[in-house]
Amino acid sequence: MKWFRTIGIGLALFLAGNRASAATLQVQILPKMAGQDLQPASFRYHTSAGETFSVTRASYLVSDFELQRVDGSWLTLSNSVAWLDLGQNRNTFRLENVPPGDFTTIRFLVGLNTNLNQANPAKFPPGHALNPDLDGLYWGWQGGYVFMALEGLWRNPAGELDGWAYHLARDTNAVHVSLAAPLDITNETQLDLDFDVSAALNAPCPLSFATDGTSTHSRDGDPIAAALVKNLATAFRVRKVTALNDAEIAIADPRPLYLPKKFTPWRFQISATFPMPDLPRDNPLTVERVTLGNKLFFDRRLSINNRQSCADCHEPDNGFTDGRRTARGAEGKLGPRNTMPLFNLAWKSEFFWDGRAQSLRQQVLQPMQNPLEMHENLTNLVTRLAHAHDNYPALFKAAFGSTEITAEKIALALENYLLTLTSFDSKFDRVLAGREKFTPQEQRGFELFSTEYDPRRGQFGADCFHCHGGPLFQSQSFANNGLDSTFSDPGRERVTGKSSDLGKFAVPSLRNVALTAPYMHDGRFQTLDEVVEHYCTGVKRSATLDPNLARHPDGGVPLSAEDKADLVAFLKTLTDERYLQEFSHPQ
Ligand code: HEC
Ligand code: HEC
Repeated sequence: MKWFRTIGIGLALFLAGNRASAATLQVQILPKMAGQDLQPASFRYHTSAGETFSVTRASYLVSDFELQRVDGSWLTLSNSVAWLDLGQNRNTFRLENVPPGDFTTIRFLVGLNTNLNQANPAKFPPGHALNPDLDGLYWGWQGGYVFMALEGLWRNPAGELDGWAYHLARDTNAVHVSLAAPLDITNETQLDLDFDVSAALNAPCPLSFATDGTSTHSRDGDPIAAALVKNLATAFRVRKVTALNDAEIAIADPRPLYLPKKFTPWRFQISATFPMPDLPRDNPLTVERVTLGNKLFFDRRLSINNRQSCADCHEPDNGFTDGRRTARGAEGKLGPRNTMPLFNLAWKSEFFWDGRAQSLRQQVLQPMQNPLEMHENLTNLVTRLAHAHDNYPALFKAAFGSTEITAEKIALALENYLLTLTSFDSKFDRVLAGREKFTPQEQRGFELFSTEYDPRRGQFGADCFHCHGGPLFQSQSFANNGLDSTFSDPGRERVTGKSSDLGKFAVPSLRNVALTAPYMHDGRFQTLDEVVEHYCTGVKRSATLDPNLARHPDGGVPLSAEDKADLVAFLKTLTDERYLQEFSHPQ
């Protein structure tokens, strides 16, 4: 297999309409607790053993929907698979192209059949339930998906906040659910189901965190997985069936913005193991736009005093970071946060440590105007570039079809450029492709990184892959990794307003991490050894500590000095020299 691939953004995509005329069954599955709506992160639920707990994550796959006709035969809805997620409020999906008719029963799998579970995850388009970048459920290097991830906190017998994480996976653990549902499908029909999380933990096989354990990864013979499989079969219920009006669903069809008549598509290169990215369709990657964005990125005239470019903080030689604890602006003022590295941004949908920007084009205008950073006003900037004795008007014409310069076009060009910064050619990738070999120390480090810590089942790994898993070594999520128990920077909470997000920050990618010191949102750790020490002895408990860390002993995973050194040796294999060379200077 070629270890990288080039993908084009086919303009045909913009024009392809795919409207079905057959009936549609819209399914909504709401997570419940004994009949009531499940309140995420609320510490108010009880196991049958009387343990108090919360649910912070309920993320799962359902597939292989079938409907039983009144004559008893079954209609299979091919390719039906959906991903549902409590935190993202993903609870509705559509089964298209259902032949109209009368049906009595619906059945489906919680999880996936073997074919889907073992399929190459890199083939699913953006937006597909099985695109690992979307669902965050791909089981990393062990193959297959996590069918259901249930996580939360609980109070252990010692009275401490502890974490629990039940991950159901493996082909043999897909659960068959069958529900009587009188469905008269003529046009568009909605089926409302409940998923009772209390039933999943309680009936018929009651689970107790203290006696049964706080984690499962569904290894062979794991009793928690066996209990979940039994319980899930009866944890779903039909609430109601509704006939919907012939509502026309408007499919947003974004047109490319300011696309000139002539342009050169950019050849976007990624690893063959990466998921398909969701590139913005209204800002297709073109050589002309990338060239303009690249020039802007290195241009100090973007700042109030012509003294700072994006690249002065995002230095290509340092993996696009500045080596400072927190960033220093054009006028010398220090900001509150550590400069983030810039690569593989095409696989993120929320930017900054707290995720406050929803797109790159929205993101890039912030540092230009931020008084602690470049501190420039956009009107001044546009005028300055238009009057620069420079080739900007010509570059804007090539990229956008006219010499007019606007803040929006500056943002679109920078977005184009940032999206092209891909990193996928580290020693780790070459080992995976069979082109190089790990040293024994790196190999041990990789195994520690990707193995859970679960003494009850004889597993003594470092448990890093839960958050930094998959080929991108990041997850599209925010987590509290135990840096503090009181928070001077509220992180994600300031964006969502939810107290359950206090102290959470974006899970950073660990690619190129050897180059991006100092570490964490406030740059508090100078070395990777300090970071690893944090996960062993420094993890602090608080109400939002991630369950995957909260279930470890106080302080964190106990690793030996040798383990720690091996882990660091592995992290150093994630450095990508090709990326450094390719993007190290203005083109
Ligand atoms: C003064 C230093 C500084 C300058 C100049 C600067 N940045 Fe940043 N950049 C940062 C810091 C610090 C963060 C994280 C800020 C936060 O989370 O609040 C960041 C975050 C980002 C991110 C988010 C990455 C992610 O993974 O979420 C992008 C993209 C980015 N900067 C692009 C740019 C661009 C483009 C420019 C020029 C227009 C620029 N930056 C100028 C310091 C800087
Ligand atoms: C519960 C999820 C979670 C787990 C498990 C986890 N991390 Fe992290 N990691 C994070 C988050 C979130 C951050 C950023 C936190 C911040 O800056 O406030 C982070 C930051 C880091 C950083 C700093 C990266 C940078 O650019 O600043 C490194 C290195 C790191 N983790 C390595 C590891 C290793 C090694 C393990 C296993 C021992 C591990 N992580 C386990 C969530 C996790």
